[in-house]
Amino acid sequence: MKNQLYAQTIERHSRYILPTYAPQKVFVRGEGVYLYDADGRRYLDYASGISVCNLGHCHPKVTAAIQEQAAKLVHISNLYYNPVTPVLAEKLISKCFDGAVFFANSGAEANEGLIKLARKYGNRTGRNEVISMENSFHGRTLATLAATGRAKYRKGFEPDMPGFKQVPYNDFEALAAAVTDKTCGILLEIVQGEGGILPADAEYLKKVRALCDEKDILMLCDEVQCGMGRTGTLFGWQGAGVEPDAFSMAKALANGLPMGGFIVKRKFTDVLTAGTHASTFGGTPLASAAALAVQQVIEEENVLENCRIQGDYMMARLREITAKYDFVKEVRGRGLMIGIVLDHPAGALSALLLEKDLVTLTAGETVLRLLPPLVITREEADAGLNIIEAGLAEYAKTLKDGE
Ligand SMILES: Cc1ncc(COP(=O)(O)O)c(C=O)c1O
Repeated sequence: MKNQLYAQTIERHSRYILPTYAPQKVFVRGEGVYLYDADGRRYLDYASGISVCNLGHCHPKVTAAIQEQAAKLVHISNLYYNPVTPVLAEKLISKCFDGAVFFANSGAEANEGLIKLARKYGNRTGRNEVISMENSFHGRTLATLAATGRAKYRKGFEPDMPGFKQVPYNDFEALAAAVTDKTCGILLEIVQGEGGILPADAEYLKKVRALCDEKDILMLCDEVQCGMGRTGTLFGWQGAGVEPDAFSMAKALANGLPMGGFIVKRKFTDVLTAGTHASTFGGTPLASAAALAVQQVIEEENVLENCRIQGDYMMARLREITAKYDFVKEVRGRGLMIGIVLDHPAGALSALLLEKDLVTLTAGETVLRLLPPLVITREEADAGLNIIEAGLAEYAKTLKDGE
């Protein structure tokens, strides 16, 4: 039974919002790992708003921080100091390496900043090309589209912005061969998200780091999806044994308030100087207060450890559950960034699970992507895994019937 709000919302949305998405369900409330639709039906959320609500929906400490700051000071522009944002920057820096932060609003904007950093640095010595990876995803602005290693996203928006090329991921020889005297930056995800939950090899990353050092190229990590604890360390690169020169973040930074940013090693903090980069909404006191609360919760509630424990558990159980199905090729990922790789498109399986009250995502064409909140309990993990087990059995039957 769909109530009036359900129908009205869909009708208004279809009429007045550009049809760039194909949304499903009408959600009106979220709490922890659960979402509630306009009919009051409850769903277990293994998407977390695409790795945004990593602490679950409406975490009480984040909500309280937002409420308190919203009543005090929301925005003043970056022409004035506010006491909240520098505390957040200090906190983030304390968790990676000495350097400085630029705050933005989205993942694409954060990656644009990384690209501008690399170009500004490289142009000092006549270099301005960035190499990124095939199958990567870096955003929908024109520069981040040019960096994105999936041509289908660029289709119709030609001409492509110059200064980018892509090489196969995890292929060091191809990368080394693509470097020229014009290369200023190498951009990659530690775990490719949209591309299909593909982790980079540790050996490969070490070689990339050494190549960047040798050629004075900036190693840039896109941590928009794999950062903020998703893979079991605060930043994905921390679990991979390499340190980039700069990296972007967004999505879960403020657990749902729009916020992005990038962190630059001290060695490169003289590149983007006064007047060379800006963003009206970047680092508002409101978003900063939310992001500070996020960091507090991550520390106080052992979120990273929970992510590692539940991630290992879920991955192991998923391997058991899927072992008997030939159409499942692999279960892979890091922490609670999990992909179930099928031998055909994953959309129908995701849709079937949604009808069983489990929200999931797809990645690439053939990967069912699970990004549950990092605060998930064992019981909530089991509840979702049981749905997946039942869903796979039903799905296998539909595949068989369709043969
Ligand atoms: C790795 C990565 N980079 C960049 C982006 C773009 O972020 P946004 O949609 O906030 O611009 C995404 C979004 O999914 C992403 O996964």
